[in-house]
Amino acid sequence: MINPLKFFSPSWWRQLAIRLRWQQGRSSELRFWDRYLSSKGLRWPQEFQQRLDPNLPLSPELAGLLDPASSRPKVLDVGAGPLTVVGRRFRGMTVDLAAIDPLAAEYDILLARHQIVPPVRTIRGVGETLDRQFPPNSFDLAHARNCLDHGLDPVAAVEQMLAVVKPGGWVVLRHHPDEAIAENWRGMHQWNFSRSPEGDFIISSRSEAVNVTRKLRQCAEISCDIHNDDGELWLEVRIRKI
Ligand SMILES: C[S@@+](CC[C@H](N)C(=O)[O-])C[C@H]1O[C@@H](n2cnc3c(N)ncnc32)[C@H](O)[C@@H]1O
Repeated sequence: MINPLKFFSPSWWRQLAIRLRWQQGRSSELRFWDRYLSSKGLRWPQEFQQRLDPNLPLSPELAGLLDPASSRPKVLDVGAGPLTVVGRRFRGMTVDLAAIDPLAAEYDILLARHQIVPPVRTIRGVGETLDRQFPPNSFDLAHARNCLDHGLDPVAAVEQMLAVVKPGGWVVLRHHPDEAIAENWRGMHQWNFSRSPEGDFIISSRSEAVNVTRKLRQCAEISCDIHNDDGELWLEVRIRKI
């Protein structure tokens, strides 16, 4: 039976507003990727070529977190888009890489239109419900770049990523700081990722702010840093499951 108290609660309406904006944002996300694929990378042509390279090495930042003795590391890329940026080679081995995105079916249509065969095919999956798709404690590393702040509930998505990595494994997040403010709260941009003056990882929306460092203190060690890569600011969060 529908609970009328839940139906009229402010948080229920906030969730509904975020869902509606997410649905509206789908078409602009798809238009972006259509232009990206047709132009072979917009202003990032080198990155486009790397996404197509089947022998792309794992970036040193990710490779440095993996156990060198691991026989075939299992890595998850959440919100991968049509072509994951995560490398596939590590110490002469092919990484067991899963790339997921809620728009995977639409990306398949775009890839076919532009006659692109991805080295790693993105399959459908949502950051907030990873436990329905993958067993707990199953990945050595879970990565998300520029995507959880496009989602419905990024705090839940971080918790889900932590649930599917092994104890001692890593969750690595790379997002632009305060993207919702920078994008003027358009479309999927409803969340800001930021670093508090104390160095804590904060996720905030128009109506709430969550200190993720404090929330996960019992089950993880977290670092949160801001880097400037070629003039672009990135908030990098590394979470180690304990
Ligand atoms: C700007 S793209 C980034 C793609 C890729 N990570 C990269 O860095 O190139 C943002 C992606 O986030 C995905 N996304 C949106 N909501 C999501 C969610 N709840 N869980 C996982 N991915 C989501 C979108 O479908 C889109 O493909």
